[in-house]
Amino acid sequence: MKKEIETKKIIFSGIQPSGNLNIGNYIGAISQWVNMQEKYDCIFSVVDYHAITVKQNPDELRRRAIEVTKIYLAAGIDPEKSIIFKQSDVAAHTELAWILNCYGARIADLNKMTQFKDKSGKNQESASVGLYAYPVLMAADILLYDAEIVPVGEDQKQHVELARDIAKRFNGEYGEIFVVPQVVIRKDGARIMSLLDASKKMSKSDSNQNNCITLLDDIEVARKKIMRAVTDSGIDIEYDLENKPALSNLLTIYAILGTREIPRLVKDYKGKGYGDFKKDLADVVVKFLTDFQTKYNKISDEDALIILELGKERAAKIANEKMEKVRKAIGVG
Ligand code: TYM
Repeated sequence: MKKEIETKKIIFSGIQPSGNLNIGNYIGAISQWVNMQEKYDCIFSVVDYHAITVKQNPDELRRRAIEVTKIYLAAGIDPEKSIIFKQSDVAAHTELAWILNCYGARIADLNKMTQFKDKSGKNQESASVGLYAYPVLMAADILLYDAEIVPVGEDQKQHVELARDIAKRFNGEYGEIFVVPQVVIRKDGARIMSLLDASKKMSKSDSNQNNCITLLDDIEVARKKIMRAVTDSGIDIEYDLENKPALSNLLTIYAILGTREIPRLVKDYKGKGYGDFKKDLADVVVKFLTDFQTKYNKISDEDALIILELGKERAAKIANEKMEKVRKAIGVG
């Protein structure tokens, strides 16, 4: 009897080495990835070509790519189970992005991307073409590996949906070349907000670092940031996204980095004030960061470079096979 070979679903995700990674990146993206490794074949990239949509200092960019790799490892991404690689090490990404720019992506799609509007602000005319077209490079990242699932934070949902549209359009024209991916987002924590303004996302490109807790923050600095975080009017500790967005954000962080769920926390803090709550939250964040940084500090740059070298070979093999099919389908190469 013929035995069915069980194939695991493929996961792809990545982070730009464009600033200090924060607990938003950890909660929204990396924490999901760690849990997926047992069940799926996972590929995690340090997407340095995405980072250059905004000008980067060359030495800093190289250093940050290593830092992000070490953060993946410290968070529990296991290179024995998952592929970890740097995007610029696999040329197929930029090659496929060009092809998808021509055959798949449309100006009307890109004009809808809210992140471009947010990032370019009033300076759309002087923004780089790269910043505008970057979701197409992201689609290439995903489609090269037949990824079925893309775990990201909420802000990247629209880009994954675009990747789906591009894949369908390309397949419609050239046959079933690409797998149509699906976005996966956490129920809570898909959008961690800034500590000083609960109407905006915690972002690694924020010029005011008091808005975010970074994964490599000095422990005492992190404690102070929590104590200074804005809260809403009123005195009760409640989860109410509409009327208490700042507190709800802090409760989300508390629940995910700690051990108690939000309803339990709300119960436990009944009758207590914001001050007590923030002091305890600061302890939870400090414990999380201390454990994380202990692991991070044990990983050397050399270790990270070895992992990236291994990942490069494994990723390139998959990506190059896909590129052969794509080139053949469109009549180049
Ligand atoms: P990037 O580098 O901006 O963010 C990395 C990941 O962190 C998530 N994230 C958040 N989640 C919750 N709360 C927040 N405040 C928060 N801030 C960021 C992001 O949603 C993301 O999952 N284009 C992508 C990187 C990328 C990618 C890909 C992702 C490139 N190619 C292919 C998936 C698949 C980006 O700029 O993410």
